[in-house]
Amino acid sequence: MDTVRIFDTTLRDGEQSPGFSMNTEEKLRLAAQLEELGVDVIEAGFPIASAGDLEAVHAVAGRIRRSQVAALARAAQPDIDAALRALEPAARPRVHVFLATSDLHLEHKLRLSRPEALERVGRMVRYAAERSQEVEFSAEDASRSDPEYLGQVALAAADAGATIINLPDTVGYTTPEEYAAMFRGVARRLGSRRVSLSAHCHNDLGMAVANSLAAVAAGARQVECTINGIGERAGNASLEEFVVALKVRGDRFALRTGIRLDQIYRTSRLLSEITGVHVPPNKAVVGANAFAHEAGIHQDGILKNPLTYEIVSPETLGIPARRLVIGKHSGRNALRARLSELGCPLAGDALEAAYRAVTEHADQSKNLSDRDLLHIAIRASRGAASTSPSPEPSPATALGG
Ligand code: KIV
Ligand code: ZN
Repeated sequence: MDTVRIFDTTLRDGEQSPGFSMNTEEKLRLAAQLEELGVDVIEAGFPIASAGDLEAVHAVAGRIRRSQVAALARAAQPDIDAALRALEPAARPRVHVFLATSDLHLEHKLRLSRPEALERVGRMVRYAAERSQEVEFSAEDASRSDPEYLGQVALAAADAGATIINLPDTVGYTTPEEYAAMFRGVARRLGSRRVSLSAHCHNDLGMAVANSLAAVAAGARQVECTINGIGERAGNASLEEFVVALKVRGDRFALRTGIRLDQIYRTSRLLSEITGVHVPPNKAVVGANAFAHEAGIHQDGILKNPLTYEIVSPETLGIPARRLVIGKHSGRNALRARLSELGCPLAGDALEAAYRAVTEHADQSKNLSDRDLLHIAIRASRGAASTSPSPEPSPATALGG
């Protein structure tokens, strides 16, 4: 089975988004966990951007030993020099050089002609390759670039010493079929050169993971992504979604990664803790509702066999447990199971009374806490089920505990 290398850019592209900036200490904590997670490359920052960024990349490069550490640089000598300085202590450094290739960016942002940009890519990649163990080149806005010109740029970067060529969908514009075709076209152009192609997708149309999967199906062997999918604007491809998709759909992709799935949840929560930004409850894989079941039919299925409504078990991802949420859509089986977990098993008439009380209560309020459930259970077990659980006395007291 072939391996897809995971290039994590949470500390660079992720950190670029509003509300996610991290200081050196925080970057070090997250980098250590990313290494534990098993990412192949940690892009630690953009050293020319600020003294703080350079210091953070330098600190991460000095600490991390198993993952490679990458630093971003525009195709300009001062940027590359700053990246090289920041990466000095790295065991396995990678300089990541980029230049836009779409006419839109060349004309309006960089004011460069196509031949000028082509020449600059060759010159700057060579400059970096002569000074660093490994160079990656990114053709920014590749997905909106002329395919013929993109091929020429990829060739120039490879011939100048880049061994990884990244084709970003910088503005989240492409579709899976289109993106896959781009990879096949560039691979054809590169012929037998020993170059690995990389995908880097943004999520402006919600297709970053789908596009990344299309890229690996078309031969890309590195995917750039972020924890919780954070990143510029709508974010980058989410690492956890991509990796779990490859795992769950092994039948379709037959590709593996070096990611330790049981570290996914811990990494996601560490990022939230550091940045103070919570994961939306409905976020795939790591959201609080990703393994929560409220509908009675689903709960019944889950209790009989979790595979009925879960494509991967929460334990595999290091998620403490699935939740059977007791609400107005829940059934008796789930209520019986939840009350047993809470140490108050009910059966027969008492369960029936508790079920009716839960349904009425849940109709009126969004959330039923465990405390509410226990009050209902206690009343039901005494043959006095009520539709409005009172806050007093506490369940422990009422149960005589
Ligand atoms: O989205 C993008 O094009 C980038 C490059 C700098 C790799 O982040
Ligand atoms: Zn990006």
